[in-house]
Amino acid sequence: VPVEAFDMVIFGATGDLARRKILPALFHRWCDGQIPENSRIIAAAREDMSTGEYLERASEFVNGDKKAKAWAAFSDRVTYTAIDAHGDGPGWQTVRDALDDDPAKVRLFYLALPPSVYGPVCTAIGRHGLNTKASRIVLEKPIGHDFHSARQINEAVGAVFDESAIFRIDHYLGKETVQNLLVLRFANMLLEPVWNANGIDHVQITVAETLGAGERAEYYDRAGAVRDMVQNHLLQLLCLVAMEPPVSLDGDAVRTEKLKVLHALRLIRAEDAGKCLVRGQYGAGLIDGSKVPGYVEEVGRSSKIETFAAIRASIDNWRWAGVPFYLRTGKRMATRRSEIIVQFKPVPHDIIRADAGVLQPNRLVIRLQPDEGVKLMMMTKDPGPGGMRLRYVPLNLSYADAFEADYPDAYERLLMAVVRGNLALFMRRDEVEVAWRWTDAVIRAWQDGACPLHTYAAGTDGPSQGSLLLSREGREWFDGD
Ligand code: BG6
Repeated sequence: VPVEAFDMVIFGATGDLARRKILPALFHRWCDGQIPENSRIIAAAREDMSTGEYLERASEFVNGDKKAKAWAAFSDRVTYTAIDAHGDGPGWQTVRDALDDDPAKVRLFYLALPPSVYGPVCTAIGRHGLNTKASRIVLEKPIGHDFHSARQINEAVGAVFDESAIFRIDHYLGKETVQNLLVLRFANMLLEPVWNANGIDHVQITVAETLGAGERAEYYDRAGAVRDMVQNHLLQLLCLVAMEPPVSLDGDAVRTEKLKVLHALRLIRAEDAGKCLVRGQYGAGLIDGSKVPGYVEEVGRSSKIETFAAIRASIDNWRWAGVPFYLRTGKRMATRRSEIIVQFKPVPHDIIRADAGVLQPNRLVIRLQPDEGVKLMMMTKDPGPGGMRLRYVPLNLSYADAFEADYPDAYERLLMAVVRGNLALFMRRDEVEVAWRWTDAVIRAWQDGACPLHTYAAGTDGPSQGSLLLSREGREWFDGD
């Protein structure tokens, strides 16, 4: 379904994000006929170059599926201008000239820039009088570095744009399988009655990557895994698993429920660091059979930044009292895998007493990527005459087998959601700030609690201490494969 026509200004248009993600996403939506012809894209960045040169460079990332005709038509919608994004100068006039002056036309400002300049760029947009009633601003995570910087950024952006016009991207919320979490939970009757501390033993959320810090070392070495991944992606997943049913899928209804979960997250104290937090940094190792250097060699300086974190989180409310949420994320892990495991309580009494096979608890495995799907692990009788032997097998919904449709990349979905004004897929100011408050406490706890930084070999599941976090409590990480 086409969206309404829009104008979009991309600040930081020569950067990685704009070239790798935003422009290809727009192009794909164009090819699918979702973007009306009278839409305009104004790419703005510091460098001086012509629109032709810009498009030439930008086409590098759409090459694979660059249908020449479609690219030419898409290119006609694009203007490039050099700009001093938080100052003045002629670039602003070019932007103004390129924009439609219809005040009712949706106008998007996408800041593909470091968060430290979000405030100044918004101020400049305001100063140059470009903020119309139909304007929206799109910000990338991370919003700040901690609670205070996030608050400052939110204040500065909020001085120019109304909260209902601010779209803070967490691209995990645009993933097909993440959206399915809402449907799984709230369009099925089966789960809700046991979706609480009576039915669930614990929850595991893993986001493992095989990539290293690579070219983003400059940023990553100031952030680390907790700021880069946990504060946003993992906490958002936790919220979607743990929140109460919202009254509707309206932006504020969903976000208010997520906020309540964030408020209920117990702040981790230094004295709990030992049993709640594990940090690690990868050393050299093997990824897919190839040798890769350790983090320190990769960034070219000594560093105490964590590339792996495992956290035992607690949600202090009626639904989740006593149910741990184990979060784990890392770079240069054995496999790329994002997965949520909901482990149910064991049966209250074992009447089977099988000769072979141990009763295992039901587990719901929600595989976010790759090999998207949902599995419900069940005990069944091993068929045949051999007595009551047990097998633990999945009821298996694999997306690849069940659905033919190709689904759009998270950025494609999110950009179209901004045009449509669907705030449910974006983070509200209070969510971001409360998430930072919890994250700041984690970082403080491991500093004050003197949490060691363990080394793990690249291509493994992280430091062994990550497993201890669970085994100490008689549990283990479950591999949904
Ligand atoms: C980003 C992080 O937000 O998410 C990156 O900054 C990380 O460090 C990426 O690699 C992971 O996203 P995805 O979609 O590949 O799981």
